Amino acid sequence: MDDVSNVQAVFGDDPRVTNYVQWKPKATEEESEYFLRILVDGADNRRPSWWLVRRSDAAVVGTIIAAWDSSGEDVETSYVITHEHWGHGYATEAVELVVRFVFATTSACRVTAVCAEENPASARVLEKAGFKPAEYLPAFAKFNVSPEPRDCRRYVRERQGPLK
Ligand SMILES: CC(C)(COP(=O)(O)OP(=O)(O)OC[C@H]1O[C@@H](n2cnc3c(N)ncnc32)[C@H](O)[C@@H]1OP(=O)(O)O)[C@@H](O)C(=O)NCCC(=O)NCCS
Repeated sequence: MDDVSNVQAVFGDDPRVTNYVQWKPKATEEESEYFLRILVDGADNRRPSWWLVRRSDAAVVGTIIAAWDSSGEDVETSYVITHEHWGHGYATEAVELVVRFVFATTSACRVTAVCAEENPASARVLEKAGFKPAEYLPAFAKFNVSPEPRDCRRYVRERQGPLK
């Protein structure tokens, strides 16, 4: 599959997947290309993203991004798994790999993620990947679920041990 097909397969028009992201449901080919352009334009060393591909059959099951802040110390990750592939540990595995990648290859001090308080599956992924709940962020971000900004929480995974 090409990248546009991947965007549509992963995000598609499924509100269960898009409710708590800022990408719009019912992505057209044009919107998918625009979304890809944002990823590609930002895809220097500061904002890499990856398709998540299942080893057994090469199915694309989701995507994950890591975005460095200007100081280079904080990296924010966010991720999406296609609904049919929920519940197999894929998001947790992907977040753990991003954490390992960040700490093994850069001097960043922490990996963070922001998730809506009403998105417990995402909070659980972060908890399983060793993140701790940090600041409560009232009315912090707008998602597709509603035009109103939703209460969120930042989760943090600190680097442990000496810098590599
Ligand atoms: C959140 C999301 C990425 C999780 O993907 P996943 O591959 O199913 O995650 P995992 O299988 O690694 O782990 C999910 C965990 O959440 C738990 N969970 C699922 N729904 C839950 C709910 N409503 N309440 C509490 N826990 C829940 C699962 O039981 C599992 O925990 P467990 O292993 O202890 O049983 C996926 O649901 C998704 O893409 N959602 C839409 C996009 C999104 O919200 N992205 C995150 C933005 S911050």
